[in-house]
Amino acid sequence: MSGFVGAQHEFHDAAFVQGWADRFVPSPPRLALFDMILAQIDQLPTRDPNVLELGLGPGYMARHILERQKTLHYEGLDFSAVFFDVAKRTLGELESRVTFTNVDLMDQSWPTRLTRPPQAIISTWALHDLGSPQSVADVYVRCFETLPKGGILVNGDFIKPDGTSWEYEAGRFEISRHLELLRQAGFADQVSLHHFEPELAQPTPAQNYACMVAVK
Ligand SMILES: C[S@@+](CC[C@H](N)C(=O)[O-])C[C@H]1O[C@@H](n2cnc3c(N)ncnc32)[C@H](O)[C@@H]1O
Repeated sequence: MSGFVGAQHEFHDAAFVQGWADRFVPSPPRLALFDMILAQIDQLPTRDPNVLELGLGPGYMARHILERQKTLHYEGLDFSAVFFDVAKRTLGELESRVTFTNVDLMDQSWPTRLTRPPQAIISTWALHDLGSPQSVADVYVRCFETLPKGGILVNGDFIKPDGTSWEYEAGRFEISRHLELLRQAGFADQVSLHHFEPELAQPTPAQNYACMVAVK
């Protein structure tokens, strides 16, 4: 069996964005990914780190993390004003602890638009939307340049599973290639902690994502 795995998005269309947010209210495995990312943040030496999320989206991960860690500072980056509106509704009172930074990750000057230097950069289901391994590699390099020594990048994103006979959109590629791009960006250690919702036979665009961690 084979086919194509990919998805089309209209990130600046309010109806599409609300529909997307309603469809992807986090399931148990998605919540497990959030917990895995939070555990990485908790290993940082500081109790009140600056955390930057690439692709804030509807704010599901932000809410999960802010509800559980009361002292960190959170900056959410996105290029979609309509997603910021949805995220504000998701966050409720937690909104006051979030800085919203509207910038396009394809613009290589994005790190200059941040309000604080992050000790942790995190992301879920966002970087594959940049459309190519080269664009993801560029983000990895910008993250390396932005983080201090000991800082972490945790990317939970859709990947192309090993052994598949299906074609995947270009932004979804093998874990081994992600780890190689992280190494080439300069990170000292890089590892994939888990492959979530693995499915080889009949994959949907919402399955097959991994939690990849790199330490500077
Ligand atoms: C799936 S959502 C992220 C979900 C989020 N992690 C959560 O837990 O709710 C992906 C987000 O990435 C954003 N995005 C996609 N391409 C982008 C780009 N080039 N620059 C900035 N944000 C981008 C989209 O607007 C969207 O809000």
